[in-house]
Amino acid sequence: MRMVKNKHNKKQPATSSLLRCSPVSLVLLSTVVGCVFMIHLTMSYTRNSSVDLEVSSPRLLTHHPIVHELERVEEENIHMPPPRKRSQRAIKRKPKTPTTLIEEFLDENSQIRHLFFPDTKTAFGPTKNPNDTLHNFLPGKIWLDTEGNPIQAHGGGILFDERSKLYYWYGEYKDGPTYQTHKKGPARVDIIGVGCYSSNDLWTWKNEGVVLAAEETDETHDLHKSNVLERPKVIYNSQTKKYVMWMHVDDANYTKASVGVATSDEPTGPFEYLYSKSPHGFDSRDMTVFKDDDDTAYLVYSSEDNSVLHIGPLTGDYLDVKPVMKRIMVGQHREAPAIFKHQKTYYMITSGCTGWAPNEALAHAAESVMGPWETLGNPCVGGNKVFRSTTFFAQSTFVLPLPGVPGAFVFMADRWNPAELRDSRYLWLPLIVGGPADRPLEFSFGFPMWSRVSVYWHRQWRLPSAGGEKKIA
Ligand code: GAL
Repeated sequence: MRMVKNKHNKKQPATSSLLRCSPVSLVLLSTVVGCVFMIHLTMSYTRNSSVDLEVSSPRLLTHHPIVHELERVEEENIHMPPPRKRSQRAIKRKPKTPTTLIEEFLDENSQIRHLFFPDTKTAFGPTKNPNDTLHNFLPGKIWLDTEGNPIQAHGGGILFDERSKLYYWYGEYKDGPTYQTHKKGPARVDIIGVGCYSSNDLWTWKNEGVVLAAEETDETHDLHKSNVLERPKVIYNSQTKKYVMWMHVDDANYTKASVGVATSDEPTGPFEYLYSKSPHGFDSRDMTVFKDDDDTAYLVYSSEDNSVLHIGPLTGDYLDVKPVMKRIMVGQHREAPAIFKHQKTYYMITSGCTGWAPNEALAHAAESVMGPWETLGNPCVGGNKVFRSTTFFAQSTFVLPLPGVPGAFVFMADRWNPAELRDSRYLWLPLIVGGPADRPLEFSFGFPMWSRVSVYWHRQWRLPSAGGEKKIA
């Protein structure tokens, strides 16, 4: 249930004047006090019970039997391995040994690396599991396409194409060597381009090739291979009948901080690169685009050195931003935004800014896409404490609504592998909107205005419509 915002700005009357009130106003006053007390009791009960539910039993949201399965809480029990024996030379070269699970995750020589990056034996996909009619997702395991090759669509997003009734998954094609341009620089792969895959069930993906390719020779081109192309997202413009791609375009040191735009007549490209720009005159790094039900599209980007997100509508042809922009989550240093909508409320998942290293996700909500946005808290449920505080060792990239299951979505994230970026993994997990938010919000005096957003950890799961029930597309 949604509560109305309660901003108590008025001054309270002094006690002495209260005592002088008439009996009628005293009755009124005690009724009001009683009501407020009851509301607080109810809210604290729901808040406590939501915490209990999180650890003990699934919440009932829709009556779809498999949605209950999606909300099952699966635990993980990963421990730090015993310290490695190291020679004096090794200690001198690299004095620090990992002391936290995150350091262990980032250490390419970790003894428990297989837990974060399971090998090809555990890969899944149509060529590996042709009899898996249930189409089980195995988050973090290598995901193969219809030709048996690992899918290359990192930092990606999905377009459901009404014309072909197919899903298209676009992302960074990173199947090249990882290196650093200088000792302290971030790990990188030269731009190859944007990979595109098509599917009618979200599990069986056919490689449609590189639909926007790197520039090999012209060093002044935005997409010269020595630069950076990240987080491509595609939306369809029904007026111009163009597929419009927005992406983060940068130089190797991330100082250009721009967005790039490309268009195509077909979802499978080839996309024609138009230009890059600094939206609203600002720097722009991690970004996404979101197309609302009324066909208005928005660009969201980390700006002002990643300290704030900017959001603004695109022009009718989706080729530019309008000169309208709101600064949101000011000073909160969020990136990797993924927006979605449920029952007229907008939600967003973001990450913190720690490069390829994982950190805690936050969910946010707003009544209007232009804000104000409020922070709901960490959406991650299950796994274990470290899993939850690292987004299951991954970073948000997109949230896809599941048609026919209101309130159910697929949360798409990247488990980056900075030692070998092409071997970064995909984490697709069920995201459910429902139940009360579990922490009091700014401006709302303890009355949660929004539903909780929950992303449930699963080692294996399937979509509600898989397995002989209603088809998704
Ligand atoms: C992350 C960002 C990624 C990539 C990476 C480079 O913060 O989300 O898209 O830019 O930094 O270190």
